[in-house]
Amino acid sequence: MAPPIQPVRVATCATLLSGLVAMGAALAQPLGLPPVPVPQNNPQTPEKIALGDKLFNDKRFSSTGEVSCATCHDPKKAFTDSPLVTSEGINKLTGTRNAPTVINSAYFKLFFWDGRSLDMEDQAQHPIVNPVEMGLVNHDPVLQIVRTDPDYVARFKKVFNKEGEQVTMKEVQQAIASFERTIVAGDSPFDKWHYGGDEKAVSEQVKRGFNVFLTKGRCVSCHTMEQDYALFTDNRFHNIGVGVNRIQAEIPQFAPAFLTAKSAGTDVDKAVLTNPKASELGRFAVTETLDEIGAFKTSTLRNVAVTAPFMHDGSLKTLRDVVEHYNNGGVTKKDDPVNDFLSGGIRPLNLTDAEISDLVAFMESLTSPQFAAQKAASANPASCNVKTTAVANVSPVAPAGKSASGGEGM
Ligand code: HEC
Ligand code: HEC
Repeated sequence: MAPPIQPVRVATCATLLSGLVAMGAALAQPLGLPPVPVPQNNPQTPEKIALGDKLFNDKRFSSTGEVSCATCHDPKKAFTDSPLVTSEGINKLTGTRNAPTVINSAYFKLFFWDGRSLDMEDQAQHPIVNPVEMGLVNHDPVLQIVRTDPDYVARFKKVFNKEGEQVTMKEVQQAIASFERTIVAGDSPFDKWHYGGDEKAVSEQVKRGFNVFLTKGRCVSCHTMEQDYALFTDNRFHNIGVGVNRIQAEIPQFAPAFLTAKSAGTDVDKAVLTNPKASELGRFAVTETLDEIGAFKTSTLRNVAVTAPFMHDGSLKTLRDVVEHYNNGGVTKKDDPVNDFLSGGIRPLNLTDAEISDLVAFMESLTSPQFAAQKAASANPASCNVKTTAVANVSPVAPAGKSASGGEGM
């Protein structure tokens, strides 16, 4: 079970950058976000966050020495591997799913597209031993490094007061999760307008798009908002008609066969990332509940304009494609039949062309300032690999001068 959650004020990279002395003092909350929930048994400390940052970037934790968490959750790409459709791990092996951003994932109640991991600490152990991600056979090589590398030895001693065999994956995962809880970003133009009252922060088109989002588009029923903040996710799972059509005819045979394999010991984490059919089962692979076939976790929409392509399988290239998919009532091509398990919340919307454009403009207003520089890159795929210095160093403990984002670091 997930440990009890204790809300604390957000310690963002920016506030940490501007002075670690501020820890414990009231920290400025990014506009539009609630306090980050922190489990009681893993409190944030500056040293632990810095250790997690180092672990997150350590390529030695992969079988080829070439892949770290940051390979697929790259700070220069808003903590994704955009524009890849599905992620590339060791030896360029591709998995079945699109890498979601780590930004604001601290607010999720369950992790992964199908929610198979119960908390952030648990999540961090899986990519290391997934055959198409970091590819280690077990966690021993990680422990070998953190127990012998002098810098790690000193840091684990300082942070956890543990050394040698006392250092286990539990501490490694706790440090990574602590770092991830600082990867938080609000303050978008939308936030400045809606929560900050600045009428000039967004265009009239964005305001119209927000209205479509709330009313005719029915988007807010799943991408939820609160009175004083918006995570744009209900933390639930819905079949919105993405991917599942590919296995529709095979479900009667394949779903029971998957369950048989699962009860015989098949690892769900490995199965869903290596077998395209298993991937499309969605939440069903975890809960075994028939009506959750093809259901995936509602994505946050924050920073969505810089993390194309979209959906669990990366199948939709642009935000316009996404809106058209919804407008068609949960099918990407207008006349395709809808799947048997489609959420009742998805139906044709009859949006006009102008309304579609407005909705896209609204989603584009959800980009936080520290990732705005990446907008240009993703709008022009040819320039995606151009080395950008924006947010090149989000290390929450880097000296302020080292932050390439010109003081706008997280
Ligand atoms: C090879 C690319 C790759 C690597 C390496 C990788 N990830 Fe991921 N990450 C993904 C993909 C793809 C998913 C979605 C998988 C799924 O949902 O089944 C994901 C999901 C996540 C999520 C869940 C986010 C959410 O919305 O629920 C977190 C958090 C995360 N990764 C953190 C990490 C950490 C920490 C590491 C290193 C220990 C790591 N990742 C290594 C590709 C990668
Ligand atoms: C019934 C619930 C529901 C409704 C209504 C809904 N969404 Fe979604 N949305 C989801 C789920 C679930 C996903 C992830 C689905 C997947 O990957 O298969 C998603 C994914 C997305 C994504 C992709 C995010 C990413 O990072 O890949 C965007 C963009 C999006 N929705 C926008 C919208 C808009 C705009 C509307 C209104 C027109 C809308 N949604 C209505 C549940 C919903």
